[in-house]
Amino acid sequence: MKDIAWFASDGAEMTDADWQVSFAKSVGMFLNGEELPPAITRGEPKVDDSFLLAPPFYTIGGPDISVGRNVFVNQNCTFYDLGGLYIADDVMIGPNVSIITSGHPIDPSQRRASVVAKPIVIERNVWIAAGATIIGGVTVGENSVVAAGSVVTKNVPPNTLVGGNPAKIIRSIGG
Ligand SMILES: CC(C)(COP(=O)(O)OP(=O)(O)OC[C@H]1O[C@@H](n2cnc3c(N)ncnc32)[C@H](O)[C@@H]1OP(=O)(O)O)[C@@H](O)C(=O)NCCC(=O)NCCS
Repeated sequence: MKDIAWFASDGAEMTDADWQVSFAKSVGMFLNGEELPPAITRGEPKVDDSFLLAPPFYTIGGPDISVGRNVFVNQNCTFYDLGGLYIADDVMIGPNVSIITSGHPIDPSQRRASVVAKPIVIERNVWIAAGATIIGGVTVGENSVVAAGSVVTKNVPPNTLVGGNPAKIIRSIGG
C-alpha cells in the first residue's frame, strides 16, 4: 500500500513518477537533453521521464536549471540557478546539497549593490554526497565524487574524489 497518493489538478491520481515530473515542471526545471538553448526551452519546462526528485526542493529562479537524463536529486536540496546550472546525464545528488551560482561582492561598500552569478556545471555520472555545497563558477568533472559535507570552491577534475572545506583532492577513482 502506498503511504502517500498524489493527485493532479483535475482530481486524477498520479503515479509517483508523474508527480515528480509535475513537481519539477512547477519549479521551472527543464530537460536540456535535446540541446535546445534556454531561450527556446524557457516557458516550456520539461524534464525527462527518467528524472527523479525527492521533495522538498528549494530554488531561487528555476528556469536556468538544465537537467539531463537519469538524474536523481535527493531530499531537501537547494539550487540557486541565476548564473546557470547544468546537470548532465546520470548525476546523483544527495540530500541537503546546496548548489549556489550567485553571491555578493566581498567589498562592504558594494555588497548590497549587486549580485555576482557564475555558472555551475555538473558533468556526467557525478555523485554529490549529502550536505555538500557547490559554489558558483565550479565545474565538477565526469565520474567524480564530492564527499559528504564538502564545500567545493574550485573545479573538480574528472574521475576524482574530493572532500573537505574547502574541498581538496582525496584520490583518483576508476574512470
Ligand atoms: C567519500 C566517502 C564515499 C568515502 O569514500 P572512501 O573511498 O571509502 O574514503 P575513505 O573513508 O577511505 O577516506 C579516504 C580519505 O578521505 C577522507 N574523507 C572521507 N570522507 C570525507 C568527507 N566527507 N569529507 C572530508 N574528507 C573525507 C577520509 O578521512 C580519508 O582521509 P585520510 O586518507 O587522510 O585518512 C564517504 O566518506 C562519504 O562522504 N559518503 C557520503 C554518504 C552520503 O552522502 N550518503 C547520502 C546518500 S546520497
